[in-house]
Order: sequence, then C-alpha cells, then structure tokens
Amino acid sequence: MCKNWYNLIQRYTARKGEILVLLIYNFMDFKYELNKKAELINQELKKYIKNEDCPEKLLNSSVEYSLMAGGKRIRPVLIMSVYELFGKDIEKTFIFAVAIEMIHTFSLIHDDLPAIDNDDYRRGILTNHKKFNESTAILAGDSLLNYAYNLILEDIINNEEDKNIKLQALYELSCGTDRMIAGEYIDTEYEGKEILSQYLEYMHKNKTGALIKACVRIGAVLGGATEEELDKLTIYAKKIGLAFQIKDDILSEIGDEKELGKPVGNDRKLGKCTYVTKYGLENAQQMLNEITEQAIKSISSFDNNEFLKQLALYIANRNK
Ligand code: IPE
Ligand code: IPE
Ligand code: MG
Ligand code: MG
Repeated sequence: MCKNWYNLIQRYTARKGEILVLLIYNFMDFKYELNKKAELINQELKKYIKNEDCPEKLLNSSVEYSLMAGGKRIRPVLIMSVYELFGKDIEKTFIFAVAIEMIHTFSLIHDDLPAIDNDDYRRGILTNHKKFNESTAILAGDSLLNYAYNLILEDIINNEEDKNIKLQALYELSCGTDRMIAGEYIDTEYEGKEILSQYLEYMHKNKTGALIKACVRIGAVLGGATEEELDKLTIYAKKIGLAFQIKDDILSEIGDEKELGKPVGNDRKLGKCTYVTKYGLENAQQMLNEITEQAIKSISSFDNNEFLKQLALYIANRNK
C-alpha cells in the first residue's frame, strides 16, 4: 500500500476508531468489487453499440472507439453502489449507469478537441478527433449525449413501473449535464488568466463535481432514499466530486502518462486554472486529504457504507 493511502487511513481510523471496519473490508476486497462492477457496466455498454451497415457507420465506429476504450467507469459504479445502500436488484440502475457513462464519454471527446484542451491521447489511445477527425469527434460527442437521453426515455415509455422515480433520476442527470457544460465553459474562459479561489472551486464543482453528484443522487433516488438520506449523500457527492478534480489536477502535474493514458503537463502548458497552479502541489494534496476525510465522515450513519468509504479513498489515491 502506498504511503499516501497509509497516511489517509491512519488519520481517518485514528479519529473514528474504525480500524476494524477497514481491516475487514480491506483494499483488496474493494478492488475486486470495483473491477466486478466496472466489468458489469462494460458488458451493458456493449449491448448499445451500433454496428449495422448504414451511411453513418463511421460515426458509430467513432462512438464505439471512445466509449469502449476502457475508462475507470467510476460514475456508473457510483450509481450502483449508492443504490446498493437501499436495494438489491442492481439491474434497475443499468440504464442510468450506461447513460451516465455515455454522457461522461461525450464530455471527454469534446474536452479533448483542439478548441478546448487540444489533447492527443485519452484512455491510452489517440483522442477521437486524432483517430478520426474533428467533425466526426464533435458529432460522436453529440451522438453519445443524445443516445443517453434516448435510452432512458425509451425505458420510461416501454416500462411504466417506477415512472416517476425514473423521471426524477432523469432530472438529476440533465441538471448534472447542464452544470458540467457550464464548468467546461468556465475552464476555457479562464485559460491563461488569474482566477479567484471561489471561482476555481465553482468551476471544479461544476465541470467534474456535477456529474459525480448526479450519479450519487440518481443511485439514491432509484433506491428510494429519504430526503434526509439524500441530503447526507449529497454532501458526500459534493466532497468526492471536488476531490476527484483536485486529484486530476495533481495527476496532470506529477502523474505517469502511461498509467494515466492521457498527457501530463498540459494544464500548465495551456495556462489552465487548477488547484496545483493556484495553491501549489503540497497545499492541493492537503486540501484533497481534508475533503476526503469529510466525505467519509458524511456517510458514517449509513449501514453497508464500506464500499463508498473506500471509493472516496480510491479517488484521492488513484494513479489513473
Ligand atoms: C476524467 O475522468 C475527466 C474528469 C472529469 C476529471 P475520469 O478520470 O473518470 O476518466 P475515465 O472515464 O476513467 O477515462
Ligand atoms: C475534464 O476536465 C472535465 C470534463 C471533461 C467535463 P479536465 O480537462 O481537467 O480533465 P482531463 O485531465 O482532460 O481528463
Ligand atoms: Mg478540460
Ligand atoms: Mg482535458
């Protein structure tokens, strides 16, 4: 176990006295469960690949290229794991899990475009616009965004059961997507400029935090969480969402390109506003540790919360 992991676990367990929980539900169990869930979502995603012969066949291939390139699948995993706090029949989350990964992949394809971050590698392979071309990449992103909504609406129309719950979950998804786009805009707007710390936090909470928050709330809504439970989980979601982007900022500074599957150093090169450029590496790391601790604390009242606690630690300590 790396030093960072060890420090975080030590700080957390020392305060909460929950050493036993972390020992029983250890890192290996967590990794096994994470991989199992990621594999489940990969199998689900495969079902929605369009490979029929048609004039737009190449567009469909470009969608498949980015969607099946092997991301960590954290967002669908979050939907499933939050749902599991309340319900057992995890397949009820699949449509939303697939949809969120489609929307996330859309955001990545567009994020990499020359007009935004101009990156050449993503998920260990050439970015969509490098492999195909810019117009195809723009349309592949559009296609994924629309496909996500299409799938959910089809499910609601063809299957009346839990209609209102699904509509509420769909609303969470569309709010998250709206905020992600706003955050992406702010990111491009502030490139090469000084940013106020509250705007930096706002940007991160939106461009990355919003979809993560949507995942947690979708899982909770589908699982039938009470208002009080939803509020607690929303605090968790906001914390891990911000933590996720701070870690992304740190990895963009000191990560390993091979492991990350995307370029390192580009944030600095483009004059991006990040927690590292604003506060320095050490302070950013410190803030990440504190936010992770707060995330873990926020869900302490839930039974079966071990996976979500480990997920918060994983987000803070990942290398990819
Ligand atoms: C990368 O997201 C973009 C951000 C929002 C920081 P992930 O780190 O989840 O990327 P994949 O899905 O694993 O490729
Ligand atoms: C990604 O932000 C956020 C979205 C794609 C919505 P970044 O531009 O910081 O993420 P990476 O480092 O390219 O994955
Ligand atoms: Mg970006
Ligand atoms: Mg980027």
